[in-house]
Amino acid sequence: MTAAFPNNPNDIADLLAFYASAGVDEALEEAPVNRFAEMTPKPPRPEATAPARETPAPRPPAQQPRPDMSRLPDAPPARVSSATATVPDEAQAALARQLAATASSLDELRQRMAGFDGCNLKFTAKNLVFADGNPEASVMLVGEAPGRDEDIEGLPFVGRSGRLLDRMLAAIGLDRTSVYIANVIPWRPPGNRTPTPHETEICRPFIERQIELVNPRVLVNLGGPSAKTLLNTTEGILRLRGNWRVHMTASGTAIPAMPTLHPAYLLRTPAHKKLAWRDFLEVKAKLRALG
Ligand code: URA
Repeated sequence: MTAAFPNNPNDIADLLAFYASAGVDEALEEAPVNRFAEMTPKPPRPEATAPARETPAPRPPAQQPRPDMSRLPDAPPARVSSATATVPDEAQAALARQLAATASSLDELRQRMAGFDGCNLKFTAKNLVFADGNPEASVMLVGEAPGRDEDIEGLPFVGRSGRLLDRMLAAIGLDRTSVYIANVIPWRPPGNRTPTPHETEICRPFIERQIELVNPRVLVNLGGPSAKTLLNTTEGILRLRGNWRVHMTASGTAIPAMPTLHPAYLLRTPAHKKLAWRDFLEVKAKLRALG
């Protein structure tokens, strides 16, 4: 087998291109980590051919073939965190529910989310992406999860899809001073991968409480994951969109909700912009009807 680490510039460029195409667009540590240096030699296997009765004489440890590490940088000390990433469990989900349910204001909710270590996405994200806009707004929009730009700025929908969202809002006379924007998941999943159902369940109490505290007159679900999570349905977004649904808060308030297409989807499928336009006109009409 050939060495796993290329050492000529073309091979390195190919490897980086491979990583980029696989969605690995960011380093998680300040310096590269030599994982080979962390490998410990396996204990020698018991001799398969040794007679069962005989106790084998002590042998010197077998020489393990080791990768050539002379070309690799020394492993830096691992980043020390006050909390470490773990497999999330039901106890963490219960803690999230309890922290969210007892947060009495948006500020308190934000602080509790910032201090919550039960979702592993927090450990790879740069920032908590809590919300943008006006917490007094009549309209609250909820997307799926922050992307790279949102993670860097700590604000939702500030990248390409955010710019499209701003234009869609402007088309019905709204902007970030008249809407409130958040996501189901407040930490960027690494490489923008889809959040797992477990991550969504862990984060769900926070966004539900956020909606309850904002108490908008109208909720807009941007994309399938937001609609499915907050409207308790498994229907696809192309069937859901354009039809009013209800989001029920824990305290029993029924908030009219309009599921619509996610701006990132519209960037990939511009022919469907007309559908989102219809949905936004519905939102405008509902706001007028509600007075
Ligand atoms: N997509 C989302 O769902 N949310 C963001 O904040 C950005 C992109």
